[in-house]
Amino acid sequence: MKTQIKHQSYDVAVIGAGVAGITVAQLCARQGLKTILMDPTRDHEGNPLAGGASLLNGCIPAKILLQLSHEYHQLQQGRPGLKTKALELDLATAHAHIDNTIRRISNQITASLSNSGVEFLCASGRLLEGKQIEITALNHEPALITAEHIVLASGSHSMTLPSLPLDGNRVVDPIDAMRFTEVPKTLTVIGAGAIGLEIAGIWSRFGSQVTVLDAQNSLLPFADQEIANEMLASYRRRGIDIRLQAWVKQAKIDGHGVTLTCQYPDQPPSDLYGDKVVVAIGRIPNTETLFAPEVDVVLDENGYVHVDEQCMTNLPEIFAVGDLVLGPMMAHKGIAEARVVADTIAGKAAQMEYTILPSVIYTLPEVAWIGRTEEALVAAGVPHRKSITPFTDNPKALVHGMAEGFIKILAHAETDRILGIHIIGPQACELIAEAVLAMEYSASSEDLADTIHAFPSLSDVLRQAALMLQES
Ligand code: NAI
Repeated sequence: MKTQIKHQSYDVAVIGAGVAGITVAQLCARQGLKTILMDPTRDHEGNPLAGGASLLNGCIPAKILLQLSHEYHQLQQGRPGLKTKALELDLATAHAHIDNTIRRISNQITASLSNSGVEFLCASGRLLEGKQIEITALNHEPALITAEHIVLASGSHSMTLPSLPLDGNRVVDPIDAMRFTEVPKTLTVIGAGAIGLEIAGIWSRFGSQVTVLDAQNSLLPFADQEIANEMLASYRRRGIDIRLQAWVKQAKIDGHGVTLTCQYPDQPPSDLYGDKVVVAIGRIPNTETLFAPEVDVVLDENGYVHVDEQCMTNLPEIFAVGDLVLGPMMAHKGIAEARVVADTIAGKAAQMEYTILPSVIYTLPEVAWIGRTEEALVAAGVPHRKSITPFTDNPKALVHGMAEGFIKILAHAETDRILGIHIIGPQACELIAEAVLAMEYSASSEDLADTIHAFPSLSDVLRQAALMLQES
């Protein structure tokens, strides 16, 4: 059967319908460019899905289970004035809700693509020489198209450990870890990055005894270390056993679970048993099947597609965005890159700016930051002042019983310009938006301290922290 492609040539062709690919396709189509977007993803019933790994496999299941586990745990703990008689976890219904939400969001995306004039095809694309793309759809013969501009947005996938192959049951990747049908009694998570910590927190709140292993000697080494230390302390207070400098040497899987032999510095190897093991050691770009062998696109040593400030590859008018391109693998980074590409294709001046890019970790407590860490400022010899304000100073956090954590502001010692804002605590991923805006407009800590905030509100903690810096 021939693929149902409307045209042989396009102004813009986008490979990959994750958030970055969708954004660039829509922006181009809305400018009147003839745009095609392709992605082979289907649900387990074979229906096409748009949204990509971040949205469909990452954000939706994780954020639903995150919220559910939080509420479950809170109700179990009890709140002053609220008694719960019987509380039952129904994971089957939670998974059905996840599936429905994925379908609903994917349908919304498909409708919105169609309204924007994007031709969306459930098919994979492979870049050939001469701005040609080979399109392969299920049960169809491959077809060829050409495009004036091509955007590569095929995303990334989880890395695996050669010594511990995934079996989809006892040893799983982060996607399958969101699909457990029962709460594992004991769970081992390998990798204490954003994804490993998120998974550890979810299943711990549902009742698993969780151990997290990480090979590095500090938690979240790229984050401000006062924030990372608080994260470590907070998880340990919750009974999550985080072990750093832990190397998995060997694994034995039997009918019940997995025994890992771990090596720690200056200690004899020791065994760790878990009903399930999640491997969350990072992600790598999906480039394996993206290019025909004769396509001479430059990749860096880690397999990322090399791009310039307009996200253009070494091949003229061929762009790459999102997880394919070096930088934090966060959806909002991909969206920002997509906007730069759409503007560049439209002939407008645009360039990617990575300094004002928020980092967020959806744990409980949440972690979010913008700008530079204290360690980076010290290393660069930048004169700075800092304040740390605990959430216990914020009345709204106190009345809601969620006053764990703090906010840290770093400002230039001479100009008072804000250099970094780091938050660990309730709603950190929401609160960071104001910090991003402040830094986008080069605000000083005095500007933030003078900004009137609603009282009582969690967001007032930013003003409180800035005021504390003024008074220090
Ligand atoms: P990661 O790179 O953040 O963390 C992986 C961890 O695994 C590291 O701490 C590393 O030391 C450890 N590790 C690697 N090999 C190991 C081994 N053999 N034994 C023990 N530990 C080992 O990767 P993660 O958490 O999988 O996240 C992938 C990407 O997705 C990141 O770029 C992250 O920022 C991003 N992400 C973004 C989110 C967002 O947009 N909010 C949410 C979740 C993830």
